[in-house]
Amino acid sequence: MAKQPSGVMDAIVSLCKRRGFVFQASEIYGGVGNTYDYGPLGVELLRRVKDAWWTRMVQERRDVVGLDSAIIQHPQTWVTSGHVGGFSDPLIDNKTSKQRYRADHLIEEKVAKYRKKGRDKDADALQAKLNASLGDNAALRALIDEAKIKCPVSGTDDWTDVRQFNLMFKTTIGPVDTGDNIAYLRPETAQGIFLNFKNVLESSRQKPPFGIAQIGKSFRNEITPGNFVFRTREFEQAEMEFFVPPAENDHWFEYWKSARLQWYIDLGIDPGKLRLRDHDADELAHYSTGCTDVEYEYPFGWGELEGIACRTDFDLKRHSEASGTDLVYFDPQTKERYTPYVIEPAGGINRIALTCLIDAYEEEQLEGDVRTVLHLHPRLAPITVGVFPLVKKGGMAERADELEQELRRAGLATFYDEKGAIGRRYRRQDEVGTPFCVTIDGDTLEKGTVTLRHRDSMEQETLPSGELVAAIRERIDAWTRPERKA
Ligand code: GAP
Repeated sequence: MAKQPSGVMDAIVSLCKRRGFVFQASEIYGGVGNTYDYGPLGVELLRRVKDAWWTRMVQERRDVVGLDSAIIQHPQTWVTSGHVGGFSDPLIDNKTSKQRYRADHLIEEKVAKYRKKGRDKDADALQAKLNASLGDNAALRALIDEAKIKCPVSGTDDWTDVRQFNLMFKTTIGPVDTGDNIAYLRPETAQGIFLNFKNVLESSRQKPPFGIAQIGKSFRNEITPGNFVFRTREFEQAEMEFFVPPAENDHWFEYWKSARLQWYIDLGIDPGKLRLRDHDADELAHYSTGCTDVEYEYPFGWGELEGIACRTDFDLKRHSEASGTDLVYFDPQTKERYTPYVIEPAGGINRIALTCLIDAYEEEQLEGDVRTVLHLHPRLAPITVGVFPLVKKGGMAERADELEQELRRAGLATFYDEKGAIGRRYRRQDEVGTPFCVTIDGDTLEKGTVTLRHRDSMEQETLPSGELVAAIRERIDAWTRPERKA
């Protein structure tokens, strides 16, 4: 496999629009900033990522069950969880450009600039000051001045004070805003799980250690969304709260860190671009005593794919106290009563899908030609098989049409294409990651054989058409990520 080009993000954005993965939301009205719609291929990719997560996290396990809780919960939920008081970012405006930034991000960018220039000492010193200033708006403001940070748009240092900005979207329950009917769009799916801890415990006959998993939309009024669908204001999360006896906390934390890393490797993502990174104490969320991120090396640097957090008994205890409902677990065997600790693997579906696209993207240098190809895991590819009659005439189109129906009935996602040269049809499928193409030719009509062409190797094999479904299934199971040459 050749190296990815440096402009891979631009290439991915363009491919996503051109081939129907991702569109700008409300495009015909000029768009909504950093909000995206998923097109015919994008929605298939998202569904496959969710299926892969659900299969591994719920269906393959006896100790995890699923949930689908409401987006709008009782407003007290977010007071109790700490989101009303604490889920905020430090915000600063530039008076000249009227642009709004996260103050800590501006400082982090300066740290990165120092590093790029080899000024590691300055970078370390500024990073240490930033760490010490987090949570203190006046200190952050002073650091912006001290580091001589200028607005990237206006080039001035004409800054406002730093203010905290709550990230939750507010709405009202009922048609009239009476002032006391405020509700919030959930900023994480996790709280719906905590609120249902007792319901699930009593109805599913689980006992700690066990988990409750959920996939669903979350909303955050991010100050600096960006990098395409990496950080948006509306996104889908896949979270699992794993409730454990407190003494087993460390064991399960280690277990879930390696299990989650392995899942990304099994999705076909380059292990050399994945790492586990432990959070420093000053990075931890208000509920967490330990957190490790699964990170990926994006074209814009290392970034979080998923967090695995130790949430202790913080949420269950707080909700117990605030609601008056006892969320303590009683073990009938040991007669012990305790509030379980929680290990939480929490990832973002859109971010995982983007990562798969980036990781799979290649502009492969062929003799006198460049082939754009997505080496997606066949289970993630929006289309599994392209079906092509070599030419439309001679009954080939009719046989190809029949064969496509057979493949569809067998549960394979297909795409029928009879237009253009066969080589161009292969390339169109390579570009969207279709792992297999089947060509129906004269031999199909005479001898009943078809040509199966493989995306990664571009090799072709001849098979009896009756063996096609089994052959494709076998090759999906046997798929491994192609080696990188560069
Ligand atoms: N319940 C814990 C929690 O929500 P988080 O680290 O804030 O933790 C978990 O979010 C994951 O959700 C992140 O690792 C990321 O993949 C995804 N995520 C968070 N904010 C996002 C955003 N604004 N846009 C896209 N994905 C986001």
